[in-house]
Amino acid sequence: MGQEREGHEHVERRTIGAGALAMGAVGLGCMPMNWAYSGSRRRGEESVRAVHRALDLGVTLLDTADMYGPFTNELLLGRVLKERRADAFVSTKVGLLVGEQHIVANGRPGYVKRACDASLRRLQTDVIDLYQLHRADPEVPIEETWGAMADLVQAGKVRALGMCAVGARAARRPGARLHDGTIRQLQRVQQVFPVTAVQAELSVWSPEALDALLPWCAARGVGFLAAMPLGNGFLTGTLTPGEGFEPDDLRARHPRFTAEMTAANQPIIAGLRRVARRHGPEVTPAQVALAWVLTQGAHVVAVPGAKQERWVRENAGAAGVRLTAEDLSEVAELPAALGSWD
Ligand SMILES: NC(=O)c1ccc[n+]([C@@H]2O[C@H](COP(=O)([O-])OP(=O)(O)OC[C@H]3O[C@@H](n4cnc5c(N)ncnc54)[C@H](OP(=O)(O)O)[C@@H]3O)[C@@H](O)[C@H]2O)c1
Repeated sequence: MGQEREGHEHVERRTIGAGALAMGAVGLGCMPMNWAYSGSRRRGEESVRAVHRALDLGVTLLDTADMYGPFTNELLLGRVLKERRADAFVSTKVGLLVGEQHIVANGRPGYVKRACDASLRRLQTDVIDLYQLHRADPEVPIEETWGAMADLVQAGKVRALGMCAVGARAARRPGARLHDGTIRQLQRVQQVFPVTAVQAELSVWSPEALDALLPWCAARGVGFLAAMPLGNGFLTGTLTPGEGFEPDDLRARHPRFTAEMTAANQPIIAGLRRVARRHGPEVTPAQVALAWVLTQGAHVVAVPGAKQERWVRENAGAAGVRLTAEDLSEVAELPAALGSWD
């Protein structure tokens, strides 16, 4: 068991969606290798080693997007995929364009098709396992964008389609729950072509998807990819409160990562540590946070982001941590996170 927790065994496999696509229950979020975190863009070789390690461990889902970098994250993965395509489940995203000062949505059918060809070239593969709509374009009916993505399946360039949920920072109708808008979009695109997976934030400190989005997926045999399952690193307990972040790190502007809020949210870490200790000295808060995500349904795959090999190993080991009813009720009793985008 100890060995499993360290990730020396292949991680449990899960199948998602009507097409029963198989992948490791723990995946690898590749965003931190080229985007959004301090040190991104400067750690290419280390990141390549981390991807190889993931595939060795059966962490097969490699989640990227054309906008991570932009483009450089797909290029980095392409270096590995050209040698190890058969070991990986490749998921990338389309629909967001990065400019000098802003990010804009583009869901025009012609653009989507060109973007897919470009992703295939960068990833050095001839097929993408899961092609996800990163964000809907408010200027284009979502059925048109999704129809273009469905054409890519028919053309054999893509195996299945996924949708990313609208994030917590987006404006929403007064009184609307976080995922109401995403569920409306999902209902519309399901009329055009089946959704295989939904990707949305889900973690011990951001459990909103449990209200309606996760049940929506479970009821329809749609897989759920849990993004940011480590709370952007906070839930690992390895961040020092008040240390601050480089200006290009998303946490420098994130309301939960001010010195005050990281201090105020420490009881969450303390709770994860208490649970971890019951499972043995080698089990970590990060593993408990991931095991909690995996407990939310057989259709759920956790997608922790990492660029360091040691984290990949540790996170793979989370698939071997089985939380008890006592553990789960202790996590349920933890205080709600303080600091929000509202
Ligand atoms: N669809 C969307 O709109 C969307 C939005 C955000 C994210 N995502 C996806 O979700 C993935 C995960 O989200 P995320 O990467 O932002 O957040 P996350 O998984 O919650 O946290 C990632 C951070 O935690 C650190 N870390 C990972 N494992 C650790 C461990 N065992 N111990 C200590 N630190 C650890 C990483 O460090 P290092 O980087 O130093 O290794 C990284 O800084 C992304 O990579 C991306 O694929 C999707």
